[in-house]
Amino acid sequence: MYLEKLSLRNFRSHQSLDLSFIPGVICFLGNNGQGKTNIVEAIGYLANQESHRVSTNLPLINKEAKSATITANINQEDATTQIEIEITTGKSNNISINKNPITKNKEALHILSVVTFAPEDLEILKGDPSARRAFIDTISTQLNPRVAGIRSDLDRVLKQRNSLLKSAAMLNGKAQQTAISTLSVFDERWVELAAELIEVRLLVLTQLEPIIAKHYQEIAPKNQITLKYQPSWIDVLPPNLTKLEIINALNLSILDVRTEELNRGVSLTGPHRDEIGFYLNELPVKGYASHGETWSLALSIKLANLTLLKESVNTKSAPILVLDDVFAELDDQRREQLMQTVAQTEQTFITAAAQVDLPSNLGGKIFRLDNGVVVGG
Ligand SMILES: Nc1ncnc2c1ncn2[C@@H]1O[C@H](COP(=O)(O)OP(=O)(O)O)[C@@H](O)[C@H]1O
Ligand SMILES: [Mg+2]
Repeated sequence: MYLEKLSLRNFRSHQSLDLSFIPGVICFLGNNGQGKTNIVEAIGYLANQESHRVSTNLPLINKEAKSATITANINQEDATTQIEIEITTGKSNNISINKNPITKNKEALHILSVVTFAPEDLEILKGDPSARRAFIDTISTQLNPRVAGIRSDLDRVLKQRNSLLKSAAMLNGKAQQTAISTLSVFDERWVELAAELIEVRLLVLTQLEPIIAKHYQEIAPKNQITLKYQPSWIDVLPPNLTKLEIINALNLSILDVRTEELNRGVSLTGPHRDEIGFYLNELPVKGYASHGETWSLALSIKLANLTLLKESVNTKSAPILVLDDVFAELDDQRREQLMQTVAQTEQTFITAAAQVDLPSNLGGKIFRLDNGVVVGG
């Protein structure tokens, strides 16, 4: 698949931008702060309905405007689909496909497939556990858009559960017992959703691990990468857990932490507290790996993401690749590895400050940005 057209209205710094593309490599060149990343961020947003830089919508809307619109024509096997997303703060997005508004936004997740590799991906390895959960949840959603629904339901029930815990914490005696009974109604729904998400995460991790390890070894032979799911709801994760076993473990864990949850007024066990450990030769990557090793692994993760999406039954044709400001960070060997992937991808968008940052054999179409606008194609 490839993008034929992209239009931005009040998306970040771009008040009005219309671009046309052909398959192959497309580069955006320009100094810092010109709006290069803003363009590729919009492309990623169109596919995943989330930004690779921010978790809220407000920064995506131009500071002078109340809403932002991203419109694109996507060519897949010679048929064109138009998708349009209007982003407004405080409301869910308005999305239309071929000018028909849709009611379930997650339906639009099927249409476009984009994998972005950006400096922010280092956070997967260096940041808080939430960055690693977001990474696995994003891939899980790309592979199976149904996961978007599980995630949003889970978020909602978690908020309700937390506010119930807070109010129960302030009660005592019979009133607290009543509050706890109400809580168990929430718990049932919550445990069901939590188990669904955990089951998907475990499956995706099992699929990802050997592919990440293989890509890493292309650069650093004999090095072993392992991924470990480290749950908050069981001490040691047994292999091949069924959903029912996850539900049982979650229920036991909830009982275990009940008193502490009531004391603190927050949910202390579940997928929102789980960790995904990355290990290089059995040492944790976070805190141990060098800068170069961390970049290599981040690259391997993204290449694995792309491979998995390509193989997925839900993706009819190869995903679009976005490389935001990464070439300058990579050594020759890693650039070459990335170039091989670019060569196999139908369309790749690349941003860089200057042409010297890019491999000389890259080819493709170049757009230059100056004074915040695209000045030359
Ligand atoms: N919501 C917004 N409204 C207006 N300008 C914005 C908004 N968000 C970001 N910008 C501006 O966009 C510029 C950064 O664009 P970016 O695409 O990240 O640059 P680069 O070309 O370095 O990748 C900054 O000058 C920033 O102030
Ligand atoms: Mg940038």
